[in-house]
Amino acid sequence: MRVAAFTSLGGPDGVTIQQWDDPDPGPKEAVVDVEACSINRHDLWILEGESSMVGEDVLPFVTGLDLAGRVRSVGDGVAGVEPGDRVVLCPNETCGECTYCREGPETLCEEFGLYHGGLAERALVDADRLLKLPEALSSSVAAAIPTAYMTAWRMLRRAEVQPGDLVFVPGATGGVGVAAIQLAGVLNAETIATSRSAEKLERVGDVGADHLIQSDAPESLADDVRKIGRPDAVINHLGGPFTRAGLDAIDRGGRMVICGRTAGPVSEFNVGRLFLEHQRIIGSTMGTQGDLRRLVDLAAEGAYEPVVGGTYDLEGTADAFADMQTRDAFGKLVVEP
Ligand SMILES: NC(=O)c1ccc[n+]([C@@H]2O[C@H](COP(=O)([O-])OP(=O)(O)OC[C@H]3O[C@@H](n4cnc5c(N)ncnc54)[C@H](OP(=O)(O)O)[C@@H]3O)[C@@H](O)[C@H]2O)c1
Ligand SMILES: [Zn+2]
Repeated sequence: MRVAAFTSLGGPDGVTIQQWDDPDPGPKEAVVDVEACSINRHDLWILEGESSMVGEDVLPFVTGLDLAGRVRSVGDGVAGVEPGDRVVLCPNETCGECTYCREGPETLCEEFGLYHGGLAERALVDADRLLKLPEALSSSVAAAIPTAYMTAWRMLRRAEVQPGDLVFVPGATGGVGVAAIQLAGVLNAETIATSRSAEKLERVGDVGADHLIQSDAPESLADDVRKIGRPDAVINHLGGPFTRAGLDAIDRGGRMVICGRTAGPVSEFNVGRLFLEHQRIIGSTMGTQGDLRRLVDLAAEGAYEPVVGGTYDLEGTADAFADMQTRDAFGKLVVEP
């Protein structure tokens, strides 16, 4: 089978199409013919050599968390899926044994990890992480859902977003950002989206953002937001100076949920305002397999339409990463092997 492997770390030039042996499913495993796999900033960081999870020692490395396709074969002891089923993978990996796995949510697992391997013609996966797809969803649309929409959904829930709340999403044009805007809409909340690009901002308006702010200056963002209103919640996947911007903008008792650090791993903020205004900062990673089931069903019912901003064949994988790196991408970028 052909795979898009990382053969050196540094940037998109490190992606090489290679021929690998087809996988065989062991007990409780399945092999999926991958029809679509979306990429995430997580994959780009691996490719740039910036990830603490994957380094030079494991090259060549095939990344790709969010895959959808058709089950090709299953190993012993698989009951939930059979060859021919259309499926999407929940990329969570958990031990299944620790206190957190027992008590839930599974995202707290002491050994929590992520599946990698979707940027290939075939993928070997744990069969019980596969969800069957409704006819209404194509593989490319389904592949857009897992990481970005699960993460955004769980963040909105942890921020206790209610109908009518105002939700601020700095950097609202990528995977998690667009998902947060759309899913806040599913919850009947009002949204503020930002981007440095007028063109991408218009597109996020088209998928439902209520207020748009074009800005490349986090230091003045809180003032821009407060002219619109005091948000009840901030969905923060950027970190760096955007944490302070969010906390300076939100209402008394407001909640900020953080899942990422695209703009920097360290944030400074006003501690006085945090305690005097009873603000809350909450960390969050991914979502549960139950969240993914619900998100697939909501998309199939038409409650929201996962945004595929670009598709690429396997040979175009390096171009997909280049588009993400140069911030030319909108929504989710999907590779169709
Ligand atoms: N913890 C988790 O479970 C989890 C899960 C998913 C993602 N994440 C994290 O969430 C973040 C977003 O992931 P993603 O896959 O959605 O990425 P993405 O699609 O590449 O996000 C693009 C968005 O980020 C903005 N952006 C990019 N570089 C920026 C910079 N240097 N300064 C300010 N804004 C910048 C872009 O702004 P413009 O519109 O201005 O171009 C755009 O709105 C990453 O940090 C990722 O690691 C965490
Ligand atoms: Zn566990």
